[in-house]
Amino acid sequence: MKGVVLAAGKGERLRPLTDDRPKVLLKAANKPIIEYVLANLYPFVDEFIVVVRYKKEKLMRALGDEFRGKPITYVDQVEGDGSARAIYSAKDFVEDEPFLAVNGDIYFELDALKGLMHAFRNNDAALVVKEFEDLSHFGMIEVEKGLVKEVKEKPGKVRGYANLGIYIFKPEIFEFIEKTELSERGEYEITDTLNLYLKAGKKIGVASYKGYWNDVGRPWNLLELNEYLLKTKLEHRIEGLIEEGAKIIPPVYIGRGTIVRSGAYIVGPVIIGEDSKIGPNCFIRPYTSIGNHCHIGNAVEIKNSIIMDYSNAPHLNYVGDSIIGENSNLGAGTITANLRHDNGHVKVEIKGKLEDSGRRKLGAIIGHNVKVGINVTIYPGRKIGSNSFVGPGVVVDKNIPEDSMIVV
Ligand code: TTP
Repeated sequence: MKGVVLAAGKGERLRPLTDDRPKVLLKAANKPIIEYVLANLYPFVDEFIVVVRYKKEKLMRALGDEFRGKPITYVDQVEGDGSARAIYSAKDFVEDEPFLAVNGDIYFELDALKGLMHAFRNNDAALVVKEFEDLSHFGMIEVEKGLVKEVKEKPGKVRGYANLGIYIFKPEIFEFIEKTELSERGEYEITDTLNLYLKAGKKIGVASYKGYWNDVGRPWNLLELNEYLLKTKLEHRIEGLIEEGAKIIPPVYIGRGTIVRSGAYIVGPVIIGEDSKIGPNCFIRPYTSIGNHCHIGNAVEIKNSIIMDYSNAPHLNYVGDSIIGENSNLGAGTITANLRHDNGHVKVEIKGKLEDSGRRKLGAIIGHNVKVGINVTIYPGRKIGSNSFVGPGVVVDKNIPEDSMIVV
């Protein structure tokens, strides 16, 4: 069976992190999201079909042509936006047999696929759902006797079953995708295809999943996933060098070539990649992922954050509940604020609209190749676009677009 992975989306809600890469390449616990998806599909498939478009070269270079010995075929998304078009792109590659189709930007565990296989027996298709208190952000699946009764797009603040983006289809689904019309938001949605399929009398089985699932659509979802993975999966292992006088409280993973200097105090779960320099005299608190070739220097405190490869917080920095993209640098004394004085939820501008992150603590979201000067203050939930320069002493109280030069 083929495993079709949808990875062509633009990931606009994840800007600036997706300024230069598809969102499936963003890492949680130092591993790209798509690798967790491929690992789950692995036992069920003999080949991966990855549907690509936005920044596809980066993805193809990063994943290569196989995953643990099973081939990956990259397929360009056919014209038109939306999950239905993405799935349709695999039409000539799945042969005449059922295939799995999974969003490439979600995290789930193996149980979801086991349930899916079970739900597919005697049915024409199957999908995975999970019960949520509030379906404002999800497609809703109405279930009757273990089968899908109807699919509704984002029904609002109601309790119900959300569609998780994990499906098994027979190739006949392509005929129904061809008949699917453009939705109000200008996309061809697989949920509309499913309703056409139901109208034709087809049976779609439902697998109800109780495990952890995360749809990494917005920056704070990446922080949540990072925290979950470090909390539940991280094994203590030190492959780098720890100087005398450094304190490490497990579980902490330290990669090869990384040196942790005296006075560093690291409270796990924390993961640090390869060839990074940590300390002396820094404080790294739980749920922090630091990539390869990073420098975390003297008098720096980091908590609950993601620091991507080749990035530095080298002197007197506080980084809390923040994400720092690749090859970015904080000047001495630069601080991320992660808490509002009124203790309210931090709001973040997503595609031009302010959204409630649901978090009391959320810091900065900094893109790639950003240079931040000394003594910069970044307000909670503010974004700095990639390739920007923020001069010394700037107070970042508004989002900064890509390629900007901001000075006081
Ligand atoms: P979305 O998260 O709805 O879309 P997106 O990835 O473009 O993100 P944003 O809305 O922030 O711009 O996509 C759901 C899944 O479908 C995801 O796995 C990406 C995939 N997808 C495609 O492969 N092709 C597409 O044209 C679209 C819209 C999504």
